[in-house]
Parts: sequence; C-alpha cells; structure tokens
Amino acid sequence: MKLAIIPGDGIGKDVTAEALKVLAAVAQRFGRRFELEHLPWSADYYLESKVTIPAGGYDLLRGFDAIFIGALGDPRIPDNRHARDILLGTRFELDLYVNYRPVRLLDARLCPLKDRGPDDVNFVVFRENTEGLYVSIGGRFKAGTEDEIAIQEELNTYKGVHRIVRHAFEFAKARGLTKVCMADKSNAMTDGHALWQRVFKQVAAEYPGITPTHYYIDALAMYMVLDPGQFEVIVTNNLFGDIVTDLGATFQGGLGMAASGNLHPGKTSMFEPVHGSAPKFAGKNVANPIGAIGSVSLMLETLGLSDEAAAIDAAILKAVRERQVTSDVGGTLGTTQAGDYIAASVQRQ
Ligand code: NAD
Ligand code: IPM
Ligand code: MN
Repeated sequence: MKLAIIPGDGIGKDVTAEALKVLAAVAQRFGRRFELEHLPWSADYYLESKVTIPAGGYDLLRGFDAIFIGALGDPRIPDNRHARDILLGTRFELDLYVNYRPVRLLDARLCPLKDRGPDDVNFVVFRENTEGLYVSIGGRFKAGTEDEIAIQEELNTYKGVHRIVRHAFEFAKARGLTKVCMADKSNAMTDGHALWQRVFKQVAAEYPGITPTHYYIDALAMYMVLDPGQFEVIVTNNLFGDIVTDLGATFQGGLGMAASGNLHPGKTSMFEPVHGSAPKFAGKNVANPIGAIGSVSLMLETLGLSDEAAAIDAAILKAVRERQVTSDVGGTLGTTQAGDYIAASVQRQ
C-alpha cells in the first residue's frame, strides 16, 4: 500500500514520527508492506519556496491509497495560508466529505466530566467537511479602515448535506446503532439550516430502525457535557463539527487523544489527529502521540485492515491503563517513549 506522509508543522512532526513507528510495528507483525512517501509541505517549505502545495499536488495525493497528516499551523504565517491549501485544500480537492471523529473514552481517569466512564462516552461525530463556512466565499471591502465590511458566506447544498447525513445513518445501520442526532442552528439560520432540517427528516424516514433526534448546536454542547451517554452518532456541519470535536476530545483526555479520518468512501482518504501544531510543545518530546497513532488505526480500518487496526487500539488501551503515556494524560513518558511503548506492545501481542 502506498501512503503519503505529510508531517507538517510543530508537534505534527513529533507525533507523525511515533505514528510511523507504530505503522512499522504493524507491518512487521502482520507481514505487510507500506510504501511511504514523505512530502515536505509545511510552514518551513512555504517560507523557503513561497509554494504552499506544488502544482499537481492534489493529483499526486490522489495516487496514494491514503494520506497521513501530522498538523499544520505556524505563528509565522498568521493567515494560515499554507494550512488552507494543504489541509483544507486536500479536504476540498479530494472531496473528502466525511470528517469522521470518534469520541471514545478509554479510562474513566482521563475524563473531566464528574462520575463518567467509558460506558458514558462512546459516540462518533460526522462533520460535513467540504462546505459550510469553510469555503472562502466572501471578502473584505475597505479592509483596515473604520468602514471595513467583512463577508464570509456559509454554503449548504442539498448534495453536500444529503451525503453526510446519509453517511451518518449508513454508519449507524452497519454498526447496529439505533440513534442519530443532527445538530444545526435552524432557529437563527433559517435558510441554510432549514435545508439541514428537510434533508435530515427525509433521510431519517428511510431508516425505521434508527431514532432520529435533533438539537440546536448550543443545546448539543450542553447535553454533551450533561449526558454524553445519550449519543451514538452525531452529524453536523463543518464549523459546528470542528468545535464540538474539540469538546469531545476533552472527554477522551484532551486533544492529544483524539483521532480523525477525512473520508470519501471508495477513494483516497486522509487521516490526522484532531489537534493542531501546538507550537509551544514542538520538538520538546512532550506531545501526546495517541491521537496520531489512533489516526493510523482509523486509516488501516478504512483500508480494510481491521485486525491491524484492532492491534493498535489494543496497544493504545494497554498504554493508557498502565499509564505508559505522556504527562497530559497522567504519565511521565516523553513523546518518543510513549510511541515506543505502543509500538512494542503491537509487536508483542
Ligand atoms: P492545538 O491543538 O495545536 O493546541 C491547543 C492545546 O491543546 C495545546 O496548547 C496543548 O495544550 C493541547 N494539545 C494539543 N495537542 C496535543 C498533544 N498531542 N499532546 C498534548 N497536548 C496537546 O490548537 P491551537 O493552539 O488552537 O492551534 C495551534 C496551531 O495549529 C494553529 O496554527 C492552528 O490553526 C493549527 N491547527 C491545525 C490543525 C490541523 O492541522 N488539523 C488542527 C487544529 C489547529
Ligand atoms: C481541524 C482544524 C482545522 C479546521 C483548522 C486548522 C483549519 O481545527 O482539523 O479541526 O478547522 O478544520
Ligand atoms: Mn479543529
């Protein structure tokens, strides 16, 4: 299998090294061969070359079986231009419309919610990943003056809403789940989110075994904290999904724990931890590599290698239970030692 690897910026590089260590352990244990191509696209690359992603870059990516990204973001590039082209550009150009973000608590000790354990926190968020407020439609007029006007439009299309809502129901059905919750802000955004309402009702009617529920996004945030156990599958738009998955990450022990996949079922997909480049931790051997390693598991699962993915998940769980983890989740290990431990237990199982 051919994989593109984009470590990116900051701790993205640190955690990618550990993710690849674990991938190598999987390759050895299961007798698989992964052909890796490292792509240097990052803040450093942009500052040196003035190129965010080279011509033909997205076509190059389409030629791989999957793509792994560490993180992108650098204070030297305040408008985040390179991340827009590399990260968001890949989501848009490869039409990776499903942002798959499982929220699964591995150990009650890691959860900041009072008296909650793994049984209470186990759901997935499907975030629409190709439209919404992320499409850069708009502009600024008289920028920098007191007359400045800034417009950023939210795009909602029938096709876009329909395919992510459909995906959420299909996922629930395939896993024997019985609840799908859609969150929008249709009480205030009475045009764009009326479309979400219509599509959700229409699709839900095709799945009699699944109970559809709806919350406004503000209420969803509250209920996630108050009663996370009621959720199995949540589906929402691009921006709301971004926000509630950072909240979900805290339930799992923090941003360092959360994994994600950017999928177009049947096509080249991209995998990355939910966290960003955390510049203050970069290169200091402190970043938690579990979100990145979990993203490798999601990648292998998506590529049909479910035993391999399960071996990684079991090794992560063991590391968490035995506190062989970084300090953000109560351990004393550095990034590389935490990665070593998980890689070694993948091989020993
Ligand atoms: P961030 O996720 O980088 O970090 C926020 C805080 O979360 C960190 O300061 C740290 O305390 C904690 N954290 C995050 N990852 C961790 C890890 N692996 N181990 C331990 N602690 C961890 O978010 P931010 O500070 O808002 O953004 C920093 C940069 O990253 C920005 O440029 C932002 O645009 C970018 N970003 C990129 C992605 C991505 O590439 N997918 C995601 C989010 C943010
Ligand atoms: C994420 C990130 C990105 C997003 C940023 C870096 C543009 O926060 O992947 O969650 O908002 O999608
Ligand atoms: Mn985010």
